[in-house]
Formats: sequence, C-alpha cells, structure tokens
Amino acid sequence: MIASSPELAKALRNIVGHEHVLTENDLTTGYSVDWTGRFVGSTPIVVRPGNTEQTASVVKLLNKYAIPLVPQGGNTGLVGGSIPMSGEVLLSLKRLNTVEPVDGLALQLTVGAGATLAETQEHVRNHNFEIGVDLAARDSCTIGGMIATNAGGINVLRYGAMREQLIGVEAVMSDGTVIKHLEGLEKDNTGYHLPSLLAGSEGTLAVITKARLRLRPRLQEKVTALIAFESVHDAVEVATRLRQQLPSLHALEAIFSSAMSLVSSHIGTQVPIGPNGNAWLLVEVASGTDPFEEFQQALENCDDVIVDVAVAIDDRSRGKLWRFREQITEAIAVIGTPHKLDITIGLARLEKFINEIPEVVKHADPNSSTYLFGHLGDGNVHVNVLGKDGGEPSNVVESAVLSYVASLGGSISAEHGIGTAKKSYLHLNRTSDEIRFFRNIKKALDPNNIMHPNCLLSD
Ligand code: FAD
Ligand code: MLT
Ligand code: ZN
Repeated sequence: MIASSPELAKALRNIVGHEHVLTENDLTTGYSVDWTGRFVGSTPIVVRPGNTEQTASVVKLLNKYAIPLVPQGGNTGLVGGSIPMSGEVLLSLKRLNTVEPVDGLALQLTVGAGATLAETQEHVRNHNFEIGVDLAARDSCTIGGMIATNAGGINVLRYGAMREQLIGVEAVMSDGTVIKHLEGLEKDNTGYHLPSLLAGSEGTLAVITKARLRLRPRLQEKVTALIAFESVHDAVEVATRLRQQLPSLHALEAIFSSAMSLVSSHIGTQVPIGPNGNAWLLVEVASGTDPFEEFQQALENCDDVIVDVAVAIDDRSRGKLWRFREQITEAIAVIGTPHKLDITIGLARLEKFINEIPEVVKHADPNSSTYLFGHLGDGNVHVNVLGKDGGEPSNVVESAVLSYVASLGGSISAEHGIGTAKKSYLHLNRTSDEIRFFRNIKKALDPNNIMHPNCLLSD
C-alpha cells in the first residue's frame, strides 16, 4: 500500500473519522511549509488523530505497510524538522490537547502533546504555577513539539530546558505499542529513562502523546531591565557578574547592533537607551518577594561598564522592553528567508565568537547581512543570515559558521535541534562512534524506519 493510495486514506478515515484525513492539495499545503518559508515539502495525506488510541492505530497501520510519517505539532520549528520533505504522511498531533487538572500536591501536570504552551501556561497560572520553559512562539508551539526538540527559551538558566521539566511521558512506538509512565514519581530508578531519550529525538523514535511536567511556583514579583553597552566585551562581562551575584536571575538575553536597529524599526519604537550602543542585555529578575533592591545593587556593581539602563516594573512596561527581544525573529522574517544558525559557545570564548562571526559570514557570502541575538546566559547565540535582497544566503555560510563553532568547541544546535537543515553537519559535534550508536537506537525502536526517517541522521 503506497502513501498516496485511496485505500490508505480510507483505512485512516476508518480510524480518525472522515474530516480528519486531508488529501486535497489546498488543505495539505499549510502543513508542508515551515514558519520561515525556507522548507517547502509535500504530503499525500494529513492525518489528525483525536486521542492516543487513534494515534496508536494510525502508526500501527503505517508500520504494517512501512509508510514513513512526520509528526507535527504547532509547526513553529526552525530547522525543517516539522515538514514532510520526502512525501511522508503528515501526522498532526494538535487535537491531542487535553490539559488535565493541576496536581497541587505533587506540583505536576499531565498534558496532551497537542496543547499549546500558552494554553498550558494559562491553565497553571490560575493555580499560581508556571511551566519552566517559555519562548516567543508560545501561542502556537505544542508541548509535544517542545519535548521532541528539547526546547530552551528564556528561562533555561533558572529551570533548565524541556528535558528538565519532564517527569514522564506517554508515547506511541513505531509498531503502535503505547508506552505510558505518568505516575509522577520524582524518584524512580527502574531502568532506562524514556522521557530523557524522547526529549530531543525530533520525532525519530516515537510519537509523544502526553507528558507529565514539573510545575514551578509562580513568581509574582518581576523587574526587567534593558541595559546598553559600548562593546560586546562589556555585555559579556556584565552577564557573568549578574550570573554570579543575582539569585533571582530569571532571564539574561542579548541583542547586538544590527538586530537592534532592525527590531526597533519593525516595532516602530526607538531604542530607549544607548541608541548608538553595540550590545544590549535584557535582564529579568523574579522572586516571591520584591527583587528590586537586589537587582539595583547588582547593577550598581556594574556601573563601570554600563552606558545606560531602562528599568520596568509593571507588566505593561516590562512587555514593551521584551518586544525588543521577542520581535526580532518576526522582524527578520518580514525582510526575507534567513538561514537560522542556533549555536552555543563556552562563555570563555563567547566574546571572540560574537566579534568575529560577522566577518566569517561576510567572507562566505559578501552580499549577506548577519543578525545576532540570543540567550546569553546560556552561551546561546542565534546567528541569522539573510542573503542579497532578503533571499537565502549562499550555503557556504552555513558550513563556514558551523565549522567555526565546532573549532571553538561549541554546539551547532543549542536549542532548535538538527532537523533536516543540519543533519549533514552532525559529524562536527558527534564522533562516528556516537552516530553509529544513535543509528543502533533508532533501528531498535523503529526497525522499519517509518518514524521521520529523513530527520536528524543523514543517509
Ligand atoms: P513542530 O515545529 O511541529 O515540530 C518540531 C519537531 O518535533 C519536528 O521534528 C517534529 O517531527 C517533532 N514533533 C512535534 N510534535 C511531536 C510529537 N508529539 N511527538 C514526536 N515528535 C514531535 N525554540 C527554542 O528552543 N527556544 C526559543 O526561544 C524559540 N523561540 C522561537 C520563537 C519563534 C518566533 C519561533 C517561530 C520559533 C521559536 N523556537 C524556539 C522554535 C520552536 O518554537 C520550538 O522548536 C518548539 O519546541 C517547536 O514546537 P512545535 O509544536 O511547533 O513543533
Ligand atoms: C529566539 O530565541 O528568539 C528563537 O529561538 C527564535 C530564533 O532563533 O529566531
Ligand atoms: Zn532562542
């Protein structure tokens, strides 16, 4: 049975209902283009199961005929991992969006893989809790997609990435078996930890259908500051001091000059401080009691290098400062189709990297423009590159940047994953032995190679 056959569509309709199997081109194309517009694929069938049992039956059927599938959540991924690039069946998990009652005793929540981050946040905030991971795509990205990519975002320096939020998962394995471990025991050393394996597996090992997440106390008292610097050196220096001195540090983000000019014109707001600066930090502290004094003291200790600071306490003013950071991705998308390189560098080499990378890119493509921003507290820099007139830059840019990152001992993927975009560069960070063991794991869990076969590992 081939993926485009009417018999397959009929069999899938018997499982999920007529309206949840899409075959018409105009209905399937939206599922086949990524958020940036860079990755455009196609699929003969989009199937949208409504619960775990239906998901299991769909996967079992596809496995029987060795038909490959691509799981998709909110389709906000930035490495081409959510797109059927080789005509795979598209398995949309968005209908698995049940959010169960908050377990205030265990400080945990069981949530369907298709629930968006924003829905989940709203639900737990009503009980004075937070989800430990937060990111700008919150209105669309799903809990399942966030686990599959081990998403990072703005609070990793406090709570860790998605893997650290995970107590248990329910998942459909490649033969349709459902594996479920949602009891929520904090200590449970009974063998391999499947949630850790699935976090970051990018849909290549199993389909995540539910997750048991840790909840964090909601910290009501927040102060946010935008801080301007003359040089990258000063920004990195202050980032280090704040990490050492501020127990309430909640986010430590950076914006460098070309990204700041771009976002400021995109949101139609002048940079409130240090308009001619070269680097800005957006710093947020959060606590159960007012963290203002502690923050003020830490900033005073950095007086020697800070050019100017804007401080915001109420939600509205804080939101205005956050726009300078959170709208950068959209500002770049409006101009064109960037190549998004998402890297981490050890803090000791971060300044060198940030200062040198624009030259590395220019050398690879003289007509390109580079925008740098990211989660500086984690050493995570987003290198976004546009080519001439907003077009895609030369592919040489990707290999030049990623090879340079690897030469400095950094990672070619800090938080977005490998997807289809970076699989040919995996060898820069992983030895051939490691990749061989990755393949062994994949083969053991997915012998027919139906689970997103074109993602993460190259042929
Ligand atoms: P999708 O894009 O649908 O899929 C991503 C990957 O997960 C694919 O490989 C897919 O096959 C797999 N997958 C999806 N659902 C499942 C499932 N249920 N089971 C198994 N596999 C599955 N990322 C960050 O880490 N930090 C950020 O700060 C950040 N900011 C962003 C800001 C913007 C404006 C945008 C557009 C994106 C941002 N991202 C960020 C990237 C993206 O939002 C995250 O990678 C997110 O986790 C993807 O979730 P999703 O539901 O959209 O997944
Ligand atoms: C961010 O931190 O804003 C993102 O990960 C998105 C991006 O890289 O564009
Ligand atoms: Zn990011």
